[in-house]
Amino acid sequence: MPANAETSDALITQPLKLPCGASLPNRLAKAAMTEGIADRFLRANERHQRLYRTWSHGGCGLLLTGNVQIDKRVLERPGNVAIDGNGGRAALEAWARAGTEAGNHLWMQISHAGRQSPRYVTRQPMGPSAVQLKLLGNFAKPRALSESEILDFISRYANVAAIAKQTGFTGVQIHSAHGYLLSSFLSPVTNQRTDQWGGSLENRARMLLEVIRETRAAVGPDFPVAIKLNSADFQKGGFTHEECLQVVEWLNNEGLDLLEVSGGNYEQPRLLGYEGKEDGAVERESTRKREAYFSDYAAAIRKIAKMPIMQTGGFRTRAAMNEALDLGHCDVVGLGRPLCTHPGIANGLLDASIDEAPSFEHTLNMGSGNLSAASENYLIKVAHVFGQQGWYYKQIARMGDGLEPDTKMGVGRALGWYLKDEYSTAARMRR
Ligand SMILES: Cc1cc2nc3c(=O)[nH]c(=O)nc-3n(C[C@H](O)[C@H](O)[C@H](O)COP(=O)(O)O)c2cc1C
Repeated sequence: MPANAETSDALITQPLKLPCGASLPNRLAKAAMTEGIADRFLRANERHQRLYRTWSHGGCGLLLTGNVQIDKRVLERPGNVAIDGNGGRAALEAWARAGTEAGNHLWMQISHAGRQSPRYVTRQPMGPSAVQLKLLGNFAKPRALSESEILDFISRYANVAAIAKQTGFTGVQIHSAHGYLLSSFLSPVTNQRTDQWGGSLENRARMLLEVIRETRAAVGPDFPVAIKLNSADFQKGGFTHEECLQVVEWLNNEGLDLLEVSGGNYEQPRLLGYEGKEDGAVERESTRKREAYFSDYAAAIRKIAKMPIMQTGGFRTRAAMNEALDLGHCDVVGLGRPLCTHPGIANGLLDASIDEAPSFEHTLNMGSGNLSAASENYLIKVAHVFGQQGWYYKQIARMGDGLEPDTKMGVGRALGWYLKDEYSTAARMRR
């Protein structure tokens, strides 16, 4: 139990001074969630403004954008915002203005999808090595990047960070989790290179460290630079927790302002609280002993980290949030899915009028019996995860359109909408 229940109950309301000098007004952060609502030139638009204005007034001291891509050829999803010679600066400025209206921070999450770019976006994903992601045949075999492409991408992360700063975002987060490009460089499963970018952990972490260095040089010392990192891939032969701890030691020297702890990838979707089998199948959603499922990892990382730690994944009750701060597991609490249905929930948590963020993931089923999350059938389980994601995507899209979230929507309907939306958005982009 916390030493002082009265004080610890208000920990989430405390401001946090970051190493660069900036201050977060409180300890609640909206975690990055892909929006998928860009225009056909992959530019931000009024929908981003509406969505982030709503979230800005929702109480979180920090909002992270969904992943903004540095390479318009290789997207995590059609409808991603990309910053790759496609214009759209005025829209970025309007987005940043709307998303900081309430005086909160708004940081751009910067990413390259790597091999995790679906076939309907590209027939040629890219990765450290030509190791294919096998998920329902939805991802083409990636080609291995050349050294000059790696160097080009390092500069692009930094360049996009500079544009984020110029257009009014108040910080950046480099996405190095969940199996996307930087994360795939860290893993021996996906990085089988024999040059200076693969092999030893030092080599596998080289790209990430270079990205952080160039980014810091591009934005200067007083602008928040953060990273999202896997505590582990939870995959046989993948990036281990011990390796993560070593990378954190190296990152300690790079002037980072916040390190967000997450974990897993498309084959092991631990980030969403699912467990995966080593062969990539999705097992039943595990019953969590504790709602915040990366607590042990975050606590271990925080023991050695010099920068503040953000922990994301599973937080739902005010008590658990305050306790995580009190026990020193983290300095900032990340919230994702609750903000898709209740965008103002942080206000209620902060003024203690709400004890628990409503959560739907345990009740969102495709149907009953064999069609439910408890099914033993791999295809149904994967459809279930996609259906749930589609459900949250739809809520985000509704808020971008100025509509209220619709918590009565069924997962089957959301899955249908999601598939249709993905293909039609991809087709629009190709025109
Ligand atoms: C709809 C949706 C979209 C997401 N998109 C991203 C993303 O763009 N970048 C990222 O780092 N994580 C993404 N995530 C993962 C979340 O940031 C977060 O780690 C995860 O939802 C667990 O937190 P929660 O239990 O509070 O939802 C996404 C999750 C959801 C549900």
